[in-house]
Amino acid sequence: MLRSLFAAALALAVASPAAAQSRPPQFGGCVACHSITPDKRPGVGPGLHGVVGRRAGSLPNYKYSPALAKYGKTWDRATLIAFLTNPKGTVPGNKMAWPAQKPQAAAAIADYLAGLK
Ligand code: HEC
Repeated sequence: MLRSLFAAALALAVASPAAAQSRPPQFGGCVACHSITPDKRPGVGPGLHGVVGRRAGSLPNYKYSPALAKYGKTWDRATLIAFLTNPKGTVPGNKMAWPAQKPQAAAAIADYLAGLK
């Protein structure tokens, strides 16, 4: 009885979308400047909800640096990893003042951002 309850709970946990991508610890600092809610409220940085699949520097309610505004790429896993592992080198002149992430952390963050609902 207990065992089957446990199995059912486990199946639910695995099936639930919330279990798909939990927030990586390295994302903790990002929310100081970025909102992750669907209203894309601007903070020090632009809202990151829906950033995967969105053209870089394209939120109308945020004043981007000219560098990011004309970067021209659409954020996907590869472009996000490139930016997060080397912000200054990937988009020279951008104004995001945050240290580069290790590749593994950047990948985890990109996957987390892709799954934000
Ligand atoms: C100290 C504040 C700050 C922190 C912390 C920060 N960012 Fe940023 N971020 C910014 C600013 C400012 C910009 C806009 C840069 C520009 O316009 O040049 C930005 C831009 C971005 C963009 C481009 C969004 C778009 O609409 O094109 C992404 C993606 C991003 N940040 C991800 C992250 C992630 C992931 C983290 C954590 C690892 C993080 N940022 C931490 C300030 C911050």
